[in-house]
Amino acid sequence: RPRVLSGIQPTAGSFHLGNYLGAIRQWVALQETHDAFYCVVDLHAITVAQDPKTLRQNTRVSAAQLLALGIDPEHATLFVQSHVPEHAQLGWVLQCLTGFGEAGRMTQFKDKSARQEAQVGVGLFTYPILQAADILLYQAHHVPVGEDQRQHLELTRDLAQRFNTRYGKTFRLPEAYIVKDTAKIFDLQDPTSKMSKSVPTGVVELLEDPKRGAKKIRSAVTDTGREIVYDPAGKAGVSNLLVIYSALTGRTVDELVAAYEGKGYGDLKKDLGEVYTDFVTPVQERVRHYLSDVSELDKILARGAERAREVAAKTLARAYDRLGFLPAG
Ligand code: TYM
Repeated sequence: RPRVLSGIQPTAGSFHLGNYLGAIRQWVALQETHDAFYCVVDLHAITVAQDPKTLRQNTRVSAAQLLALGIDPEHATLFVQSHVPEHAQLGWVLQCLTGFGEAGRMTQFKDKSARQEAQVGVGLFTYPILQAADILLYQAHHVPVGEDQRQHLELTRDLAQRFNTRYGKTFRLPEAYIVKDTAKIFDLQDPTSKMSKSVPTGVVELLEDPKRGAKKIRSAVTDTGREIVYDPAGKAGVSNLLVIYSALTGRTVDELVAAYEGKGYGDLKKDLGEVYTDFVTPVQERVRHYLSDVSELDKILARGAERAREVAAKTLARAYDRLGFLPAG
């Protein structure tokens, strides 16, 4: 079976529709056909200051959401990044292989550091290198992510290639797995920018009160004109709603456009609000269920970490050997 690996930050607590449609939905599908590794990346979370209690809670809430959204611990290895120390270890090795300028070209770093009010930490700068370690440790074939991660995947491939050239073939070169239709879900208030918790104007969360989320959908910015058509350049707002609607229902955008012929934006938004509510209500129930027994949840994560470590330790040992490190015992 080919391997997939992906990760998600626990920083915000609740995931949003962009996270689900851009990434997690693919994770769920791929666990059936791939040897899947999915991690909650708490090491990445501390690249900006975190309150310890909140981080601990959000890490569990994140794992609970992944389970509630369909990640099955019998079919996929679900774990917390800090439980597998090899991530930090290989991260260091790869840092020593990365050029300063190369890291500085990462657009997410530029965006994130520009938004940071507090002092920007070095960890934010080396963040994509740790991500490369996450991926390379598992010899992943594919990495299901949203469009915003494409550049990090390119860096990962460059680093794998560089290591292989210098020290002999050690890492598989992974490919980004990006589903075009949902690769970038846009903010509902500003449909020209990506839905993101760091600019939370029109972000619809999975764990917010469904009434509130549906209201955000009903008040989404649409365009002048009346016709419901898919035209991302001319009608960014309506097109974004159609993409979300289609992804949540399995109806194609064309089908939806035909079904809404002669109807108004208000109808579309009202119906999508209901689709969203029907989707998140049982998810929220399952999240509550998983969080009601934290020891069971922690056990799932411990088993995941154990399985992940088996794979990660092998890759790290090989890399250490290739580098010329003396064996420890
Ligand atoms: P993160 O936590 O910001 O986001 C998790 C996933 O959600 C996708 N995503 C979106 N997709 C479509 N539209 C949007 N508006 C949207 N917003 C977010 C992201 O592309 C991502 O797939 N660096 C990663 C976490 C990470 C990782 C990894 C990913 C760490 N190690 C190894 C893959 C492999 C991140 O910050 O994702």
